[in-house]
Amino acid sequence: MQEKLVFATNNAHKIAEVRAILGDRRQILSLEEIGCREDIPETADTIEGNALQKARWVSRRFNCDCFADDTGLEVDALGGEPGVMSARYACVNGRGDGHDASANSSLLLERMEGVENRKARFRTAIALITDGKETIVEGIVNGSIATAPKGVDGFGYDPLFIPDGHSLTFAQMTAEEKNAISHRRRATEALLEVLKDNI
Ligand code: IMP
Repeated sequence: MQEKLVFATNNAHKIAEVRAILGDRRQILSLEEIGCREDIPETADTIEGNALQKARWVSRRFNCDCFADDTGLEVDALGGEPGVMSARYACVNGRGDGHDASANSSLLLERMEGVENRKARFRTAIALITDGKETIVEGIVNGSIATAPKGVDGFGYDPLFIPDGHSLTFAQMTAEEKNAISHRRRATEALLEVLKDNI
């Protein structure tokens, strides 16, 4: 029998991506599917801390095995910013409201104006809790920040991020091309390695 595993997200794109990787070996349920409609606290100062905070909250509240993710774009020349603040980068800097991808990108470009070292990475942390045991895995894709947005696909900082070994930004790639090398893909594969013994 398939054991249920909750993915602490309602992002349909992320759920589909993880289901595609895990196949039918384990039934993945979203927050909506377990009837969780509350805002889950996400107040840690690292992406690992946020992932663990979300996974613990759901696992305790719903008494289930669960995993949660958190992602940050880390830019070397900015000391690792926006990092854990990636979703609300503009907002925490007094610009825009809440999660505003275009304000976030504008602010990042502004801070990178004239900066030569454009090295950056997307980093995803996934915290997994099974039978009360906590495990954290990560996935990284290294790249650089473009000097202007390019491409229309994807979301967030995709138009500004050129993965190493490529000349296109994530937003100029097809979803398949991006998903084959993305930070989330790599973190999900690391998660699969951990789950392998249990599925
Ligand atoms: P989350 O933890 O997956 O919600 O990601 C936090 C923030 O990082 C998002 O709001 C985006 O701004 C950014 N981000 C995460 N993943 C990606 C990606 O694959 N492409 C571009 N931006 C991303």
